[in-house]
Amino acid sequence: MDQIRISGGRRLEGVIPIFGAKNAALPLMIASLLTDKPLTLKNLPRLADVNLLTRILGNHGVDYSVNGKRAGENTLTGQTVTLTASDIIDTTAPYDLVSRMRASFWVIGPLLARTGEARVSLPGGCAIGTRPVDFFLDGLKQLGADIDVDEGYVIADASKGLVGNRIVFPKVSVGATHTLMMAASLAKGETVLENAAREPEVVDLARCLKGMGAEIEGEGTSEIRIQGRDSLSGTTHSVVPDRIETGTYAMAVAMTGGDVVLEGAKAELLESALEVIRATGAEITETDRGLRVRRNGNAIEPVDVVTAPFPGFPTDLQAQFMALMSRANGTSRITETIFENRFMHVQELARLGAHITLDGQMATVQGVDHLKGAPVMATDLRASVSLVIAGLAAEGETTVSRVYHLDRGFERLEDKLGRCGAKITRIAA
Ligand code: EPZ
Repeated sequence: MDQIRISGGRRLEGVIPIFGAKNAALPLMIASLLTDKPLTLKNLPRLADVNLLTRILGNHGVDYSVNGKRAGENTLTGQTVTLTASDIIDTTAPYDLVSRMRASFWVIGPLLARTGEARVSLPGGCAIGTRPVDFFLDGLKQLGADIDVDEGYVIADASKGLVGNRIVFPKVSVGATHTLMMAASLAKGETVLENAAREPEVVDLARCLKGMGAEIEGEGTSEIRIQGRDSLSGTTHSVVPDRIETGTYAMAVAMTGGDVVLEGAKAELLESALEVIRATGAEITETDRGLRVRRNGNAIEPVDVVTAPFPGFPTDLQAQFMALMSRANGTSRITETIFENRFMHVQELARLGAHITLDGQMATVQGVDHLKGAPVMATDLRASVSLVIAGLAAEGETTVSRVYHLDRGFERLEDKLGRCGAKITRIAA
């Protein structure tokens, strides 16, 4: 297995291009199941999760082609792909594929809406928590589907078609909002999703679905209204920039010091996180190219954070923020409210010299004067990048193993950081 080796202690200076968001790309690709016409996605990131989803969709009958290079495109710009589901030839999403990526469970919505049936493996647990699928199943039942669970598979039937309804989610769920919004786009009549997720990736999916002919209102608010259509068409859609990638690199600069332009980043996608990073003492300004992040020698101020659904502070930046706070000039408290087990990075950050104590869902981080490089192990996607950030700011050498987690969500990470002066290399196994 590959490792990443970092010699820490260098400031970051330069330009880091921000790519299309993984968490928008995945539901957008799944939306191709809703139509027999081609769906073209621009600015699609080159990530392990995107490749895996391509295989899963391929199994259902989706053709996937990568468009040739266009003028101005290079390896630091996203790719353009076309997905075409002329016929759905298989409505089963098997365990060996779904268990590797939870988001693939979301195919249940479009498969059911388009073909009247779906047999999708339950995704199982994952490193950050139990992550049940009850909101999906209850929601699909309310649209008229019969749902059974048998031998680890959800068997959904709607042979007479789905019918719109009012669905109130008990708790905000990004995946359930994506899935029900897709299913409702092909249901009969009106569906109202209440307590819907407001994340920018939900808005991006709604925009793409509208481009495909869906009638949707209220995306970005907690009430989304969908008027179902008999069929949808294809469209061309550009994936929204990755707010988690943006926040991650902004925190890296806030930690190492330096001056970096995050090219293509959009402030409105992560205002709450930017406010927190500014409160730690970094300067962040919007420019024509994106966001400029600077920090010059001043101490890192401690800031308390509570994760929350959008527009709150994202759980997907919690680990990276903990790395930043480990070098703060005082004590901060970080409370995780979305997932019950998203503190796996704590033990690994401790190996670099961080002082963190855990009490249930709250971590107390007592900032230290310096971190020292050590071998550490990635446990999940965001946890692993928090170790990279900490390694960049630590004295000496840090090696991060199990970096396949990183490849799920960060494209060309070593390259992007290396261009800004970091000493970071991948050691192939
Ligand atoms: C999405 O996961 C993201 N994944 C996650 O990013 C992100 O952390 C999460 O939203 C929260 O923002 C993708 O977009 C691919 P949820 P999702 O349903 O949709 C509970 C990353 O690192 N819940 O919003 O799976 C659930 O257990 C990943 O890129 C139920 O109880 O998250 C959690 O506590 C990790 N029943 C809460 O809701 C359900 O049926 C929110 O989860 C569904 C969810």
